[in-house]
Amino acid sequence: ENESTVSITVVGASGDLAKKKIFPALFALYYEDCLPKHFTIYGYARSKMTDAELRNMVSKTLTCRIDKRENCSEKMDQFLKRCFYHSGQYDSEENFAQLDKKLKRHEGGRVSNRLFYLSIPPNIFVEAVKCASSSASSGNGWTRVIVEKPFGRDSESSAVLTKSLKQYLTEDQIFRIDHYLGKELVENLSVLRFANLIFEPLWTRQYIRNVQIIFSEDFGTEGRGGYFDNYGIIRDIMQNHLLQILALFAMETPVSLDAEDIRNEKTKLLSVCQVKVLRSMRPLRLEDVVIGQYKSHSKGGVTYPSYTDDKTVPKDSLTPTFAAAALFIDNARWDGVPFLMKAGKALHNKGAEIRVQFRHVPGNLYNRNFGTDLDRATNELVIRVQPDEAIFLKINNKVPGLGMRLDRSNLNLHYAARYSKEIPDAYERLLLDAIEGERRLFIRSDELDAAWALFTPVLKELEEKKIIPESYPYGSRGPVGAHYLAARYNVRWGDLD
Ligand code: BG6
Repeated sequence: ENESTVSITVVGASGDLAKKKIFPALFALYYEDCLPKHFTIYGYARSKMTDAELRNMVSKTLTCRIDKRENCSEKMDQFLKRCFYHSGQYDSEENFAQLDKKLKRHEGGRVSNRLFYLSIPPNIFVEAVKCASSSASSGNGWTRVIVEKPFGRDSESSAVLTKSLKQYLTEDQIFRIDHYLGKELVENLSVLRFANLIFEPLWTRQYIRNVQIIFSEDFGTEGRGGYFDNYGIIRDIMQNHLLQILALFAMETPVSLDAEDIRNEKTKLLSVCQVKVLRSMRPLRLEDVVIGQYKSHSKGGVTYPSYTDDKTVPKDSLTPTFAAAALFIDNARWDGVPFLMKAGKALHNKGAEIRVQFRHVPGNLYNRNFGTDLDRATNELVIRVQPDEAIFLKINNKVPGLGMRLDRSNLNLHYAARYSKEIPDAYERLLLDAIEGERRLFIRSDELDAAWALFTPVLKELEEKKIIPESYPYGSRGPVGAHYLAARYNVRWGDLD
């Protein structure tokens, strides 16, 4: 029989990411009939567990978005029967070779493709890649490895990591995941821009005054302080998730290619455009960054902790849990347009948005209706990545009535109201792409280098000069410094709508 099989091994199967995201995403793909006919899923971790125990653990996490649908429990049982567990050390070729034997039994002599998802801490990364990719654990079809950030902590360590990975894998086998690229509204960015005449021509410095990319969480590092303190918000969110959004937003128009069979070419061209835009950016300067750290705050009888109350965080930690930054792209399209980013934990709300503020209408007849606050009269396009996905365009409109009063209103595309289909989780799309060998939404090594080049100098400076983060109360809007930074570039932060 020459049909092929796919074995998916989740390395780090008892970790948080595996439980919350990877297994539920695999089940959702199974439910939607998106997994290949012959597939097997293995959980791999150090602790001892039986297949039944793994199934039990996984079944508890499958309270995913589809658990209320028809046949769900039946499908879940079928899915769980195809999940197995193998206990092993992450750095043991012998343990991976034992896994290989088990996989071979499932594969039954078919062409065997193997996908490893490494959901493990950075310090054991390279060893695990070595073992997972060794001949002892690869099949006779393709072998691909999905790796999760952190991909190093600066340009140098990232280069070392890339070099080490390339000892064991070719670039084609490495799938560096940035789950923000799998989010529906991030995927839609290109469509919004390139398939709409009313947007594409406006996507330049001539019409756009500034672009804001905002990420906000209303909880702290809860339980993740140990990881987080080593990285901080700039490395955790900005250098990857927000910068990827920026690159997709600001890239030049890719040459269009129509034929289906050159999908790979298209993928390459798109990535080249994204890397190009990153390379035309100025490295972030210290004066263009504001950092903050949350402090304890009591509200409604509840006391919320300081970042440094986390037991795994040193009391004198200077790690930022908030950062705002102004970035610039030195090319003809974006010359002088500030791209402002803001990311923070323990803020007053939760969400991720892209806000595009357009310029004033030259000689606007109605300026006087807005008094001195002309900013209130500019158009703004808001792309709400999450929660409650939406796109809206703020336009000026006459308030109905006999007088002439204007206000700014929303033309609103609210996904929940417009589409009945549920939005897949980012991990579903990305896992499916990895299985299909589609690399479009994964980070290439040259892209990673370009991303680190932008942030490494400022990260070093912040750390060498021991810059003290501005404190902000848990649950607040973040440090006021962020407003001064924006004001310097004549920008007012939009508030998550
Ligand atoms: C992760 C970060 O990459 O993204 C976390 O490490 C953050 O700190 C998370 O909470 C946010 O992802 P999402 O999809 O919940 O917005």
